[in-house]
Amino acid sequence: MNREEDIKERSDQESTLQYAYMEQAKEMIKQQVASLGRDLTFCVVTFGCQMNARDSEKLTGILEQIGYRKTDQEDADLVIYNTCTVRDNANTRVYGRLGKLKNYKQKNPHMLIALCGCMMQEPSAVERIKEKYRFVDMIFGTHNIFKFAELLVTKLQTEQNNGSDAHSMVIDIWKDTDLIVEDLPIERKYPFKSGVNIMFGCNNFCSYCIVPYVRGRERSRKPEDILAEIRRLADDGVKEIMLLGQNVNSYGKNLESPVTFAKLLQMIEEIEGIKRIRFMTSHPKDLSDELIEAMASSGKICHHLHLPLQSGSTDILSKMNRRYTKEQFIDLAARVRKAIPDIAITTDIIIGFPGETDQDVDDTIDVIQKVRFDGAFTFIYSKRTGTPAAAMEDQVPEDVVKRNFDRVLNVVQDVSREMAERFEGMTDTVLVEGINEQDQTLLTGRLGNNLLVHFPGDAKLIGQIVRVRLTECKGFYYLGTRCDS
Ligand code: SAH
Ligand code: SF4
Ligand code: F3S
Repeated sequence: MNREEDIKERSDQESTLQYAYMEQAKEMIKQQVASLGRDLTFCVVTFGCQMNARDSEKLTGILEQIGYRKTDQEDADLVIYNTCTVRDNANTRVYGRLGKLKNYKQKNPHMLIALCGCMMQEPSAVERIKEKYRFVDMIFGTHNIFKFAELLVTKLQTEQNNGSDAHSMVIDIWKDTDLIVEDLPIERKYPFKSGVNIMFGCNNFCSYCIVPYVRGRERSRKPEDILAEIRRLADDGVKEIMLLGQNVNSYGKNLESPVTFAKLLQMIEEIEGIKRIRFMTSHPKDLSDELIEAMASSGKICHHLHLPLQSGSTDILSKMNRRYTKEQFIDLAARVRKAIPDIAITTDIIIGFPGETDQDVDDTIDVIQKVRFDGAFTFIYSKRTGTPAAAMEDQVPEDVVKRNFDRVLNVVQDVSREMAERFEGMTDTVLVEGINEQDQTLLTGRLGNNLLVHFPGDAKLIGQIVRVRLTECKGFYYLGTRCDS
C-alpha cells in the first residue's frame, strides 16, 4: 500500500467511527431532550478567516445531525468558540467574551462550553484556560474537528459517571495530522454559494506568521474528492464556490499524481450548474502563467485575485521570507492586469514589521500606487511568540507604526475608491445574496470582481445571477438597476 492509500484507509476508518459516535451522541441528546422537555440549542461563534468559517460549518453539520437545534444566541446549551490567533487582538477578544459565557453558565447548569480552532493549538493559551477559565468543558484543535461527536460523548459520559457537580475538562489537541476525513455532514449556510477546502495547512513559514504552526503542514485533497463535493453542491443548487487554502497556487504538488491548481480549476469549470469559481488565497511566489491564462480564458473563474503583498520593500520582504521582490510583485500584477483588464486585485499589507523604516513604508506606498489595488486589508504587525520575527531586534515603536499605518491607509482608500469608479455606467452580472439591511427595498449582491452592488428588486431573485447596470459608485459599493427584467 502506498502512502496515499494508507492515509485514505485510515481516514475512511475515522469517518466510519465518527458516524458511530454521532449515533451514540444522538441517543444521549435524545434522552436529555426528553428529560428536560425542550430542545437543546447550540451556537458556534467563528473568529478569523474563511478556513475557520468552513470548519464551523463542519461542526454545525455534526451538531445538527446529532439533534441539537441551531441558534445565534450565546446563552445556548452548547456554545463553541472557533478561535483565531493570527494577531494578538484575536486572542484578547476570546478571553474577553469568555467572562460573559461564565455568567450564562451559572444560570443554565446544562450549558457546555467548547473552545477549538487555531488559538487552541498554542500550549500557552490552553494552559491559561486550564488555570483561569476552569468552567470550560471541552478544548480541541484544528486537526481533530472531525472528532467532535466522539469528544462530546466522552464529555457527557464523564459527567454521567461523576455526577454533574464534578466538573471535567475534555482536552484533545493534536500537533499535526495527515488525515483528510471526507464525507462527514457539513452545514449549507447559503443555498446558492459555498466554500470548499482544497488543501489544508501551510509550508511557507512567512517569518511573522503563526498559521503554519497551528494549521500544520500543507496537504491537498485529491481532485476526485473535491470534484465529487462540488458536484453534490451543484446538484443542490449551489452556483458559486470559493476554493479555500492558505496558498492555493501550490495545490496538488504533494499528491502522488501531482495536479496544478490551474488544471483543478479547469476540471471544476466543467461541472454544470457551477457558474462562478472563486479562490483564496494566492501567494505571489507561486502564481503561474498557466493560472493567469486559465483565469483569462474562463467564463466561470471570477475576475478577482486576492494577492497579498505584505510589504513593498524588498528588504522587508526578504526578512518576512516572502520570496519575491518589490519589482517581481509589480511585474506580476502588471501581467495579470494585461491579461485580464477588468480584474480586481486586492491585497493584505502589514505595517510595523521589525526593522521597518519610513523608506520601507514609502516603498509599500509606491507599490500600492503602481499596482492600484482595488482593495486592501491593512494590519498592524502583531508579535506572535514562536515565530522568527518575534525574536528579531528593532521592533518598531508604537507611535511610528501608527503614523505609518495611517499614511498607508489613506493611500489605499484613495486608490481603491478611484479603482471602483472605473466600472460606473457598465453592466455586469450580480449574484444576489440577500436583502439590503439598511434599505429593505434594495437587494444586495456581488459582481464577479467582488464589488458589492445594491439595486431595487424582488426577494425572489435571491440566489439568482442577474444583469445589473452600475449607475452610481458610492466609494466601496455600487447602486444599480436591473437591466434584464
Ligand atoms: N495564507 C494567507 C494569509 C493568512 S493570514 C496568505 O498568505 O495570504 C491573513 C493575513 O493576516 C496575512 O496575509 C497577513 O497580512 C496578516 N498577518 C499574518 N500574520 C500577521 C501578524 N503576525 N501580524 C499582523 N498581520 C498578520
Ligand atoms: Fe502565513 Fe505566509 Fe502561510 Fe500565508 S503563506 S498562512 S502569511 S505563512
Ligand atoms: Fe486565524 Fe487560523 Fe485563519 S489563525 S486567520 S483562523 S488559519
